[in-house]
Amino acid sequence: MSTAATPSRPTLSVIVPTYREAANVPRLFARLTVVLAGLPWEMIVVDDDSSDGTYDVAFDIARRDPRMRCLRRVNRGGLAGAVIEGWLSSSADYVAVIDGDLQHDESILPQMYAALEKGEANLVIGTRVADPSQPGGLSPMRQRLSDLGKWFFGLVAGVDVSDPMSGFFMTRREIVSRLAPKFSPDGFKILVDLVLTSRHELKVVEVPYVFRPRTAGESKLSPLVGLDFLGLVAHHASGGLLPTRFALFAMIGGVGILVHLAVLTMLIDGGLAHDFTKSQIVATVAAMASNFVLNNEITYRNRRYKGLGIVGGFLIFAALCGVGAVANVNVASVLYRSHSSWGLAGFAGGLIGVVWNYAASNAFVWRARRKS
Ligand code: GDD
Ligand code: MN
Repeated sequence: MSTAATPSRPTLSVIVPTYREAANVPRLFARLTVVLAGLPWEMIVVDDDSSDGTYDVAFDIARRDPRMRCLRRVNRGGLAGAVIEGWLSSSADYVAVIDGDLQHDESILPQMYAALEKGEANLVIGTRVADPSQPGGLSPMRQRLSDLGKWFFGLVAGVDVSDPMSGFFMTRREIVSRLAPKFSPDGFKILVDLVLTSRHELKVVEVPYVFRPRTAGESKLSPLVGLDFLGLVAHHASGGLLPTRFALFAMIGGVGILVHLAVLTMLIDGGLAHDFTKSQIVATVAAMASNFVLNNEITYRNRRYKGLGIVGGFLIFAALCGVGAVANVNVASVLYRSHSSWGLAGFAGGLIGVVWNYAASNAFVWRARRKS
């Protein structure tokens, strides 16, 4: 018999999206070697050019151990896109996604794998449950948001999943490979996207685990990214026509209109301002600020402005929105003069405005990844 045995091909790829997780990657790898012992597996770190050199830490391990692989992406950013590219670089039968910060309990991976292998499911979701004996984990704010998300998800997806926002799951590679061109790489909720894209072909099993508090590095997501989910729903509801980001941008624009009206009402009804034009200017600036902050936190989170940069970003955004407003008013006036109804003219003007603002925001305001 030959002594040079063919190394066994991995049947499970564990995809780990990372951004600034240098301290956590070796710890997660060490834990996987323990819990997955006896299984042909590999860990694929997909790192977005982290300034703490996470990719170098992963490459160092990869030089010693073929079970580690790393994909370093540059000038990209975005959790969902990282996961999709990790999936596409795998040739295994099964693919898992797990956070790189040790908040997900890796010890349930064998149980997830067994459910797939036995054919009990083709999607196994790690579901976060509270640990009563320990404080930390899900905050009450997160719990409420997650309950709301769960209810709404059941409504639109027609599938009962207790933790649709989970970032910890395992599925057959064949499924994600086939559906990959339809996924939205810009968001954060890759599980939501998978379930909405697959349209009922999934047989789901859930495995509960206790979400652990982070011990190293810092969280990059805020509970606000849960709203990302609404963009995905709009994208799927439109049959893929509306880009996820545009849907989010337009929804935030809707919130901006409410802010505008609220501020205007406050100023005028509250007797704080008697000058309509001045009140209208204040309300406009408030709405623009709300749009900027929400887009910075949600729509363009992975390119977001931080610290003093926020001021510069806002000024560019406000200037471009000003141009959008001029286009909006002109288009609406031309249509109105050519005998369209005021409703149609107003709607067309507003539509031109939001499309312009979106295109200009993409191209000029949040154009490239900003490093921290
Ligand atoms: N490649 C890449 N690119 N990875 C990223 C990026 C990015 O732009 N942003 C975050 N990550 C990685 C982090 O390094 C971490 O491994 C994982 O994605 C999750 O990010 P955290 O910053 O730890 O997020 P969290 O703990 O707040 O989010 C948790 O709750 C979400 C639902 O609310 C996670 O469990 C998520 O998976 C889950 O979707
Ligand atoms: Mn985390």
